[in-house]
Amino acid sequence: MRQVTLLSFFSLGLATLACGQGRMGRGTSPDALEHPPLPHSDLERRVLSTLSDMVKAGDLYANVPASDGRFLRQLAEASNAKVILEIGTSTGISGLWFALALDKTGGKLTTFEIDPRRAASARSNFKKAGVDRLITIVEGDAHKNIAQWKEPIDIVFIDADKDGYVDYLNKLLPLVKPGGLLLAHNMDMVPDYIRAVTTNPALDTTFYTSGGGMAVTLKKR
Ligand SMILES: C[S@@+](CC[C@H](N)C(=O)[O-])C[C@H]1O[C@@H](n2cnc3c(N)ncnc32)[C@H](O)[C@@H]1O
Repeated sequence: MRQVTLLSFFSLGLATLACGQGRMGRGTSPDALEHPPLPHSDLERRVLSTLSDMVKAGDLYANVPASDGRFLRQLAEASNAKVILEIGTSTGISGLWFALALDKTGGKLTTFEIDPRRAASARSNFKKAGVDRLITIVEGDAHKNIAQWKEPIDIVFIDADKDGYVDYLNKLLPLVKPGGLLLAHNMDMVPDYIRAVTTNPALDTTFYTSGGGMAVTLKKR
């Protein structure tokens, strides 16, 4: 039963992958690309089952689809990220995907959320998934709270108020390590952010257009 639920949840998220089929080679069927993540550890099983339960319970608010969450985890784990900042926790879906990477890299996520009810829900989901030790939630307005942050950052993930993206970029870019990443979800809704990251020669940006879309920006070394 749980298997079925997980499958249906992940095929929902992966359905977005099929939208990119026009860019695929001719011989590749989109169906062949639909595959649920397979847990490789007890922790991963617990995180995936928490994600599935959240979908069943409707404990959701504007969260990343599974395809984007998997991409976040891959970027974080492959780059061995240890310090990740997320703007916009919501109920914790993207945080859970990051946690899968952080459990392996030995790093931590600090995530900012203005809505106390969503922050409480995320806190309980992180605990249920067994990853609360990896995540700190900072409640309140991130525009104010990130000003306290002083530590070098490996990855910034921006997924909150769209008219705030450039302010987040301006405040956090100086703290991103050379070789670090800035990830901005739903970038098609923020043309001023796209302009800012594509006109700065210290940055290199590509656009992932599956799912909700994401600007992936490298801060050059
Ligand atoms: C798109 S949702 C985040 C989804 C989350 N990243 C996920 O995938 O699970 C955006 C969240 O940003 C929060 N938010 C909006 N403005 C904010 C601000 N100024 N400071 C902190 N959080 C903010 C909203 O309350 C909302 O929960």
